[in-house]
Amino acid sequence: MKALICTAYGPLSQLSVQDVPSPQAGPGEVVIDVKASSLNFPDALMVQGLYQVKPPLPFSPGAELAGVVKEVGTGVRDIVVGDRVIASTGWGAFAEECVVSVDRVMPLFPGMDFELGAALVLTYCTSLHGLKDCGRLQPGETLLVLGASGGVGIAAVEIGKALGARVIAAASSDDKLALCKQLGADDVINYTSEDLKKRALDLTGGKGVDVVYDPVGGAYTESAVRALAWHGRLLVIGFAAGEIPRIPLNLALLKERSLVGVYWGDSKKHDPVGHADNLKQLAAWFAEGKIKPFISERVSLEDTVAAMERLTSRQVKGKVVILPEA
Ligand SMILES: NC(=O)c1ccc[n+]([C@@H]2O[C@H](COP(=O)([O-])OP(=O)(O)OC[C@H]3O[C@@H](n4cnc5c(N)ncnc54)[C@H](OP(=O)(O)O)[C@@H]3O)[C@@H](O)[C@H]2O)c1
Repeated sequence: MKALICTAYGPLSQLSVQDVPSPQAGPGEVVIDVKASSLNFPDALMVQGLYQVKPPLPFSPGAELAGVVKEVGTGVRDIVVGDRVIASTGWGAFAEECVVSVDRVMPLFPGMDFELGAALVLTYCTSLHGLKDCGRLQPGETLLVLGASGGVGIAAVEIGKALGARVIAAASSDDKLALCKQLGADDVINYTSEDLKKRALDLTGGKGVDVVYDPVGGAYTESAVRALAWHGRLLVIGFAAGEIPRIPLNLALLKERSLVGVYWGDSKKHDPVGHADNLKQLAAWFAEGKIKPFISERVSLEDTVAAMERLTSRQVKGKVVILPEA
């Protein structure tokens, strides 16, 4: 089978598509015939050795997929050969077949195709966990989303609206902001041409926003903290800009603001019941048409590295889906 392989941690250009033996299911594992997988920023960090998770070499990147179960190992219950499933693999999804522990597998949501299934779980679970469990976003509150046209950003815009918040989307181009508006954002801020803090205060009549969803980091974070209202919460999602910001803590004291970390990958282990409830909520919102992953590109395994390069240079909107059979 074909797989995108990382043989050494380093630049994206060292990845290559290779023919490798098909995986086999061990106890408690299933092999999935991959119909679609999707790209996330952590995939690019992982192959460069810049992510908190470092798989043993060689490995295939790819944290999520949708496909058909091809083989089940001993001890697997509830999942059978032929099931249409979604899997949160961590890595290994950029391949024609993938072996994964059964506890990382779930049925494809009703009415969902493989492409949407591959593009949903990581971004929407991160944003729902962040906004609801960590940020305690309430109906009627104002949410400011940074990097709002990216993978987790679009999910935060849609979930913010589904939770009843007023959503302000911030991004680097008018083109990206037009998409955010189309997907439900109430107001927009172009943070490359406008002053982020001033615009956020103007849009809230000087009060400030209640919650900031920040997957970008860098210089935008401090401006966003300064735009938080009394008891505002800044959700630390990630640092796509490449710089981990240092924030003066007097900004927290002055308005009783909170800086709240969000780590969806580990939160599932600490609260599996809460995670299962969140998945049910996402399935319900999908059925009601309140959320739907925005897929901007579909690429082959061979074109995945080029797509990763576009993702890490701010050229992608929403999600890139990889079709191994293309
Ligand atoms: N905490 C968690 O549990 C969790 C889970 C998933 C992902 N994450 C993190 O969330 C972040 C976003 O992930 P994603 O998959 O949504 O990525 P993405 O689709 O590439 O979105 C990231 C956004 O960041 C902005 N950005 C600003 N400076 C950038 C730069 N120098 N390079 C690339 N993007 C830049 C871009 O928007 P503009 O051009 O509009 O600025 C881009 O749309 C990553 O840091 C990822 O590791 C965290």
